[in-house]
Amino acid sequence: MRKKVTVVGAGNVGANCALRIADKELADVVLVDVVEGVPQGKGLDLLQSGPVQGYDVMLTGANDYEPTANSDIAIITAGFPRKPGMSRDDLLLANYDVVRMATEQVAKHSPNCILIVVTNPLDAMAQAAYWVSQFSKNRVIGMAGILDSARFRTFIAQELNVSVENVTAVVMGGHGDTMVPLVRLSGVSGIPLTELMDQATIDKIVTRTRNGGAEIVKYLKTGSAYYAPSAAAVEMAESILKDKKKVLPCAAYLEGEYGINGLFVGVPVKLGARGIEQIYEIKLKDEEQAMLKKSADSVQELVDVLKKK
Ligand code: APR
Repeated sequence: MRKKVTVVGAGNVGANCALRIADKELADVVLVDVVEGVPQGKGLDLLQSGPVQGYDVMLTGANDYEPTANSDIAIITAGFPRKPGMSRDDLLLANYDVVRMATEQVAKHSPNCILIVVTNPLDAMAQAAYWVSQFSKNRVIGMAGILDSARFRTFIAQELNVSVENVTAVVMGGHGDTMVPLVRLSGVSGIPLTELMDQATIDKIVTRTRNGGAEIVKYLKTGSAYYAPSAAAVEMAESILKDKKKVLPCAAYLEGEYGINGLFVGVPVKLGARGIEQIYEIKLKDEEQAMLKKSADSVQELVDVLKKK
């Protein structure tokens, strides 16, 4: 039997997740959105791409969660973009309501699924999904690190004029401008980055990575990135559905790792059929640990706002 993935939110990220899942023939997809007709229309359009693209998966859309029953994975992309005049906390609370409602419904209809959270502010929304679903911590995962490290890898490859496939990069911490690109552990085919670039160039690339999301928002004006975010979410889904056990940077619920307790923060994890099968605790240098702590503190601030709700 084919696997089944629910994608909540049929907007830019959600629809592109559905498209990528179909293109890779990973699973049947149910798109869910509050806007009447949009998930149904996009689902049908995607289904009709099947004969041309050569995929045999079912794609449907709905405004309720009945058709999502017994999904293997649910990817939550539903939410509002930040609008002019909205504070960070306003966005946090608005998207908290959306993620809470979506998670309640998903958990009710697919009690055994694995949740991949994409809605921003990412780490806080993963925390909300964890609270609401009451799933074990290995089954709630936030998508951020793959995207952040993909941006880092892209800029490194461009600078050195080498294949992106040869570039590895580790980015930890929260998904925001306090993220922690670990230069020491990044490189090209085993060659450390520090042997290939001077410090000024590395600093420039690190800054561009930290501002990677904002750079795209500035171009798009009315929305945020969705091609790379959907690719990252689907890489996570693929590793889980095929039990590939890829080691990827994801937001995971930490209980003491890296000195962080009771909080979702980006760390390297192994993703397999059981979701997060292992959290890797790398020995960090003092300055790296300090950066990670600062990043975790900024996630904690948001989570504290949610706790008061
Ligand atoms: N239930 C289901 N869908 C909802 C709900 C809800 N309660 N509230 C809003 N939506 C839907 C909207 O109708 C819209 O179709 O979520 C979709 C969001 O799509 P876009 O506005 O296109 O946003 P997108 O670019 O897909 O980003 C979604 O992912 O990367 C993050 O920061 C980004 O938080 C944002 C999320």
